Amino acid sequence: MPFVLQPLPYAKNALEPVISARTMEFHYEKHHRGYVDKLNKLTAKTPFAQAALEDVIVRTWGKPDHTKIFNNAAQVWNHDFFWHSMMPGGGEGTLGKTLQKRIQTDFGAYDTFEDNFTEAAVAHFGSGYAWLIEESGRLSILTTQDAVPPIVLGARPLLACDLWEHAYYLDHQNEREKFVRGYLEKLVNWDFAEEQLTATHAKPPSQTQEVRI
Ligand code: FE2
Repeated sequence: MPFVLQPLPYAKNALEPVISARTMEFHYEKHHRGYVDKLNKLTAKTPFAQAALEDVIVRTWGKPDHTKIFNNAAQVWNHDFFWHSMMPGGGEGTLGKTLQKRIQTDFGAYDTFEDNFTEAAVAHFGSGYAWLIEESGRLSILTTQDAVPPIVLGARPLLACDLWEHAYYLDHQNEREKFVRGYLEKLVNWDFAEEQLTATHAKPPSQTQEVRI
């Protein structure tokens, strides 16, 4: 099958206690794998089957005939990006000098960034994602609805936090704020975020397709 479920960059229990092994089991093996399987079914025998994942997303965005393909392709990409936005032992201690300066410039202070990110994530209605993005040379926080990734909005994502209930409900029930605070304080992989700043384009570990449509 053309699109693959990329391996997790750590063990399923590596993000405890913020994200339990049980949540990872469901989130990765059922939800993420489900999006990959569905995408392969939807794109079989279409030109999209041979396309790079990012191309599928960009080319199906806003096209009513391709909503299902867009949603599943974007969810595959979003989850790859989300897993790599985290690491065991992450959080402020892994913040490098480059991003530390950028955060100070654009948010005033690291604590302000954390508060703003948390407030935006908690206020977001329904399913979606909270992102740290770079747009027009400035860092800012963006939330998107359902499967929409910043790459279709012209913004460069640096970090993703999954706000769908499947991401936190088993561990934190309705307390999304606890999950988001734990994500920021204990899990964020700032090395990954910094790599995104200098990458030619935003990228979770790429799918294997090379043929462009
Ligand atoms: Fe998810």
